[in-house]
Amino acid sequence: MKINENTLLEGNNVVLVPYDAKHVPRYHEWMKSPELQQLTASEPLTLEQEYDMQRSWREDDDKCTFIILAKQQWADGSVEEEQCMVGDVNIFLTDPTDPTLAELEIMIAEPGHRGKGIGREVTHMMMSYGVTKLGVQKFEAKIGLNNEVSVAMFKKLHFQEASVCEVFKEVTLAMTVDESVRTRLLEATADMKERDYRRTCSDRREHV
Ligand SMILES: CC(C)(COP(=O)(O)OP(=O)(O)OC[C@H]1O[C@@H](n2cnc3c(N)ncnc32)[C@H](O)[C@@H]1OP(=O)(O)O)[C@@H](O)C(=O)NCCC(=O)NCCS
Repeated sequence: MKINENTLLEGNNVVLVPYDAKHVPRYHEWMKSPELQQLTASEPLTLEQEYDMQRSWREDDDKCTFIILAKQQWADGSVEEEQCMVGDVNIFLTDPTDPTLAELEIMIAEPGHRGKGIGREVTHMMMSYGVTKLGVQKFEAKIGLNNEVSVAMFKKLHFQEASVCEVFKEVTLAMTVDESVRTRLLEATADMKERDYRRTCSDRREHV
C-alpha cells in the first residue's frame, strides 16, 4: 500500500517504519530460520523473491506492512536503521468484496525481544492504524495450532476463536471492532505519534 510509504509510528518501546528495500537483506536472513518459517507458516524465498515481495507489499492496495524497530536503539542516532529491526507487522485485506475485513500478522523475529510486551504494543498500534486510517472493522489472525504464544497473545487482546482448520492445523481468531473495542484501542495507543518518516530519519534524536 502506498498510504504508509512515508509514515512512521512511534510507540513507547517501538518505532514502526514502512518496509523499504534496505530492510530486505536482514528480513531475508530472519526467514532462513526453520523456527520462524514454521511459526509464521512461511515458505523460504530467494533474496530476489524477497525483494519482489517487498515491492508487492509497497505497491498492492490490499497489503499494508511496517517494520518494527527497537526504539531504544533507534533513538541512538548512530545505529543504522537495519540494526534496529526486530520484526514486522502486516495487515492484509483478504476479501475484495469487503475492504473492512483485515488479516493481521505479526512477527518478533529477534528472540531476545520476545516476551517483553512488544508484540502486544505493536498489535495495538497496527490495529489502531487499521481502524483509523484504513477503515478496518473486523480483524482476523490465522495461527498454527501449536503456536501457543501467539494464540495466548491474541486471546489476551480479546480475540475470540472463530474456526479451526484441522487440515492446515490452524485456528482463526477474530475481533469485531465495535465502539468499546475502538475506545480501548485508542486508549492503548494514546501515546502513539505519527510522523513523516523521511524527515524524522534525517534527525532521529531530535524527535524522541
Ligand atoms: C507471538 C509474538 C508476536 C508475541 O509477541 P511478544 O512480544 O513475544 O509478546 P508480549 O511480550 O507482548 O506478550 C503478549 C502476550 O503474549 C503471551 N505470551 C508472551 N510470551 C509468552 C510465553 N512465553 N508463553 C505463553 N504466553 C506468552 C501472553 O499472553 C502475553 O500477555 P501477558 O504478558 O499479559 O501474559 C512473538 O512471540 C513472535 O513473533 N513469535 C515468533 C513469530 C510468531 O509466532 N508470530 C505469530 C505468527 S501467527
